[in-house]
Amino acid sequence: MPEISNPKELFLHELGDILYVERNLAEETLPKLIGEVSDEEFKSGLENHLEETKQHVTNVEQVFDIFGEEPHEEECVGFEGLKQEHDELIEKASSSLVDSIDLGAAARTENYEIAAYEGLRRMAKALGEDRAVKLLDQNLAQEKEALREVEKIATRISSESVTETVSS
Ligand SMILES: [Fe+2]
Ligand SMILES: [Fe+2]
Repeated sequence: MPEISNPKELFLHELGDILYVERNLAEETLPKLIGEVSDEEFKSGLENHLEETKQHVTNVEQVFDIFGEEPHEEECVGFEGLKQEHDELIEKASSSLVDSIDLGAAARTENYEIAAYEGLRRMAKALGEDRAVKLLDQNLAQEKEALREVEKIATRISSESVTETVSS
């Protein structure tokens, strides 16, 4: 018998995948980015999203609870790939480009989270667990807002950095 043989098992697997991502972001990745970036608006946006991310972890743990399961992580290879790409790029690039690199990494991560939560809320709805849908929707809404913020800051920083390059 395959390890994952029905929609509920698939849902729980995907939930474990996003739990891995959210815990990793809360404990390691977001604090690291906050330490790296210099733009004040970006830094405070990351600090704000770190607080939201801690709540995302709690919400995902609660969804496990609704399904009568202990929270368990599934290693997310996609997220590990994004982290590796970021780390390699930072190694190669000049320090003046760190904020731009981190904005790209943040946008990729938010898009990953948005896709994950859209899938999860669809599956939870199909499984008839409206309390889970509500919790997943809270996370989804904050990921979308975080992505809009990142895009806004990226637009400003990319035009500023091109102006600086031209005038220097
Ligand atoms: Fe999140
Ligand atoms: Fe996020």
